[in-house]
Amino acid sequence: MEEHLRILFVSAEVSPFARTGGLGDVVGALPSALAAQGYEVRVVMPLYQGVRDRAFVMTPLIEALRTPLAFGERTARVWQSVLDTNNETQPVPVYLIEQDDYFARPGLYGDASGDYADNPVRFIFFCRAALALTERLAWFPHVIHCHDWHTGLVPAYLRFLPGVDRRLTTAAAVFTIHNLAYQGIFPAAVLGQTGLPPRLFQPAGMEFYGNINFMKAGILYADVLTTVSPTYAEEICTPEFGYGLDGVLRARRAALTGILNGVDYKIWDPATDPALAARYHVDDLTGKTACKTALLRRFGLLDDPEIPLCSMITRLAEQKGVDLVANALERLFALDVNCIILGSGDRSYEERFSSLARRYPDRLGLRLGFNETLSHQIQAGSDCLLMPSRFEPCGLTQLYAMRYGAIPIVRATGGLRDTVAPFDPVTRQGT
Ligand code: ADP
Ligand code: GLC
Repeated sequence: MEEHLRILFVSAEVSPFARTGGLGDVVGALPSALAAQGYEVRVVMPLYQGVRDRAFVMTPLIEALRTPLAFGERTARVWQSVLDTNNETQPVPVYLIEQDDYFARPGLYGDASGDYADNPVRFIFFCRAALALTERLAWFPHVIHCHDWHTGLVPAYLRFLPGVDRRLTTAAAVFTIHNLAYQGIFPAAVLGQTGLPPRLFQPAGMEFYGNINFMKAGILYADVLTTVSPTYAEEICTPEFGYGLDGVLRARRAALTGILNGVDYKIWDPATDPALAARYHVDDLTGKTACKTALLRRFGLLDDPEIPLCSMITRLAEQKGVDLVANALERLFALDVNCIILGSGDRSYEERFSSLARRYPDRLGLRLGFNETLSHQIQAGSDCLLMPSRFEPCGLTQLYAMRYGAIPIVRATGGLRDTVAPFDPVTRQGT
């Protein structure tokens, strides 16, 4: 029988189980797309509190997965679920690692007061448990695909951790950079907790200005590096976008490829989307007007479909250029434009927009928090989507906007540059 290439995805976010942004969307969609091409794909992620709360169908798989750590053994319970695939292919198994000391919390990475202090230990544990799981299942992937700093230790473990099964260490490690701004930088003492050799504490290793850096480990020790757009692959090799790792990336330039993200048009399709007030299609946009009216009413904005509605759906972070929008809002209102902002993140931005929303209640609709259903409704009801990111590795929100007939207004950076074509009034071409 033909042997399929076996691929294990290791990720801190997997949609629909848990996500804070586009990482979850991608790791929720790419495995099924690969499975549809005949690869044997499995996914492993932590079992966060939120996964349990939302009652996904899961079956118990392993009662006690023993996970050796430098600071003592921990056990985990492992649950199995599946990614929702199109019916043509085998469903992709998802393994959820349950360890309540680390993951039974409201946030994925932190709470209102900041990042969880034990994040290094949480993700050391997760990486080790992912490897222990494949050994326990005797399912040895040919490729281990790791995503962002949370899983940056996996490529290092495959190379340097004593006692790992050879059938596992011969796997090729792919490390994908979704966002270089978040690197997992921790005090030097954390190296001891990783179980990796102390000699990695050097500039040519995981050391980073006196600390250790999980992202750097992924970059140095993976066999292949990818990032999520061709332009971002160029940008991160420069000091402006490299966040201190541009030199390391330049040294690994030959191993680095920029591959544009795809999105799941089964979930993001205005012709079938169950969240919408009405459904519509590129050839018949009548339903979009109904979506806009429903949205304007819901937010109590000036209920005139002729007034353009420009929206943002975003993490409220400096990356996204939200301050640029905040600065421009009053001028937009003066041009007779309405705005809706759905976002969560930095407290200072939340306060800034809240005070603007109080001053312009019929112009600015604001929802703070993460609301998936509402994000679909805003895409459908808006005329334009604002995304003036300072940097953008790929960006998915603009891709969804284009599918929903909302014009993306973006800065020419990273994946925004690679996906949005400027409008040329002469040829009338562009997105
Ligand atoms: P990033 O991953 O940098 O946040 P992307 O554009 O790649 O940016 O992906 C963002 C994803 O998160 C999209 O699916 C978007 O709809 C979603 N999202 C962001 N903020 C919110 C929010 N407040 N509520 C619901 N969905 C959100
Ligand atoms: C990151 C980036 C975003 C990208 C997403 C998925 O969160 O900020 O640009 O689309 O990862 O790769």
